[in-house]
Amino acid sequence: MKILVTGGAGFIGSAVIRHLISKTQHSVVNVDCLTYAGNLSTLDHVSSNPRYSFEKVNICDTAAVQGVFERHRPLAVMHLAAESHVDRSIDGPSAFIQTNVVGTYTMLEASRRHRQSLPADEQGAFRFHHISTDEVYGSLGDEGLFTEKTSYDPSSPYSASKAASDHLVRAWNRTYGLPVVLTNCSNNYGPYQYPEKLIPLTITSALAGKPLPVYGKGENVRDWLYVDDHARALVAVLERGLVGETYNIGGNSERKNIDVVRTICGLMDELSPNTTNRPHEKLITFVTDRPGHDHRYAIDASKIHRDLGWTPEESFTSGLRKTVQWYLSNEDWCRQAVADRYSGERLGLKS
Ligand code: DAU
Repeated sequence: MKILVTGGAGFIGSAVIRHLISKTQHSVVNVDCLTYAGNLSTLDHVSSNPRYSFEKVNICDTAAVQGVFERHRPLAVMHLAAESHVDRSIDGPSAFIQTNVVGTYTMLEASRRHRQSLPADEQGAFRFHHISTDEVYGSLGDEGLFTEKTSYDPSSPYSASKAASDHLVRAWNRTYGLPVVLTNCSNNYGPYQYPEKLIPLTITSALAGKPLPVYGKGENVRDWLYVDDHARALVAVLERGLVGETYNIGGNSERKNIDVVRTICGLMDELSPNTTNRPHEKLITFVTDRPGHDHRYAIDASKIHRDLGWTPEESFTSGLRKTVQWYLSNEDWCRQAVADRYSGERLGLKS
């Protein structure tokens, strides 16, 4: 199957492409406009494969997107392209509305048009897979889990834009019969994540001896999912998920932020070649909380386990150790990823 992957130069998209090229026989067309967080070096191991091709295209550009469909005639779309950083959405929501809402609309319309041009059997096989987030469900209290039936209640401009895009995808299924599947995932972590998110920011700041900012009291809880586990889940949903269905994907690894940061500090004490900052815990700095900060996310992933047999393979302990080791071995990648773009400053405080 030829799969058009949007956002394939990003953190999760590149993990999906590495998985598709190295573990399946599918072909991939990577559509990415290379924003600050996009980086083609994440695909160095697979980019020379004849089953891989790249199109530098913005998903909001209708004509360019249609051109990609006409040239490549894919049988599936995995739509991952998105502005994803909550703090940036607080400072500047506009890009989030453009890429996440308008971009998804553009992809849906181009997919609908393209599908109509396919032979009947391929029209039936065509899939539009929308990759989304558990943040659309809002915040949990200390108990309970998000299921696929949890009502939407987004808190940030980012999560509201993803909720809007989920609604568009379901509407294109109900109104136009576009064969869609949706997934909503918890917090991803692993190699190649842009060092603005909690885990890579903490590792790279600890390595540089910089303060490790913890929002509020660090009591907020996230459910951590290793990115390669997520990539496997996404391919399972694309290949075997039922049209119109949603699947929640989570790592069964709930942790308070402060515990995540302390664990990273312990790993840095053990693994970092730079001994001057030990113990790294002394770098922890409690800072002003994020506006609208969701208290807790936790996924009930029993549906994807029951229906598709997927389960996470990586424990948080093993995944976090691997991740710290990867960042320590790939300092050049991190330096290039942030060069002239981001120096670790606090984002998302604008009122
Ligand atoms: O739940 C899935 C979502 O996870 C994805 O949809 C988002 O794209 C992704 O960015 C992530 O959202 P979060 O806001 O949970 O991730 P972030 O890494 O920004 O923050 C994780 C937690 O750590 C959150 O409670 C805020 C806190 N935090 C974050 C940063 C960057 C800190 O305490 N200090 C920090 O410096």
